Amino acid sequence: MSDKVPVITLDGPSGVGKGTVCLWLAKTLGWHILDSGSLYRLLALSAGDRPDLDDVSQLVEFAENMGIEYVSSEAGLRIYLDGEDVSEAIRSEAVGVWASKIAAVPEVRQALLDKQRNFARAPGLVADGRDMGTTVFPDAELKIFLTASAEERAKRRCKQLKDKGVSVNLSELTVELKERDERDSTRSVSPLVAAEDAIVIDTTDLDIEQVCSRVMQLVEQRLLKV
Ligand code: DC
Repeated sequence: MSDKVPVITLDGPSGVGKGTVCLWLAKTLGWHILDSGSLYRLLALSAGDRPDLDDVSQLVEFAENMGIEYVSSEAGLRIYLDGEDVSEAIRSEAVGVWASKIAAVPEVRQALLDKQRNFARAPGLVADGRDMGTTVFPDAELKIFLTASAEERAKRRCKQLKDKGVSVNLSELTVELKERDERDSTRSVSPLVAAEDAIVIDTTDLDIEQVCSRVMQLVEQRLLKV
């Protein structure tokens, strides 16, 4: 019998709802989760304000040496960087923008590759990101790519931030999101693109329950064989 850990990848652009779907799926299956975007966000935070993107060796050093810990608690998953709880700090829009810029550096992506692959542990892994199906887990059992229009994603992100008490401007957020999409999709290494064997779900007109139920259908067909 193969001892290969099964992996489900969920890739897609910012604000498409991957995070919510992945959390739900990992909890339902009792599998581990990799939020790969959090690694790029942690690196952006480690590198400090306005990191020098040309100082590649320093960025790689940060990537290799940052002390990361993911701790499950009653309040959900907490993320620590060098002993400090940064669960909220890494979610700011500014950190997201720097994460996207840092993520375009090929050496940084290479430095984070094994860290991401080490998340694959029994009984299985749900991996959330941009290049999970194309680069990090090319042999995944099931690859899903979620899309939605930029306007719809900006609306979702806006609601999410407002619910958290953060004041946001929808049109600024839409512009920022489109810029981030452009950067993530056009970088030379592991750009945001659906793997050839990924199943694409356009979520523009779907609510979260509908997306989860479509994803579960695919999991049942492909992995649980029911
Ligand atoms: O998913 P997120 O918004 O937390 O990710 C933040 C940034 O990190 C995103 O704009 C691009 C980058 N990223 C990446 O390049 N590859 C991944 N697998 C995940 C995130």
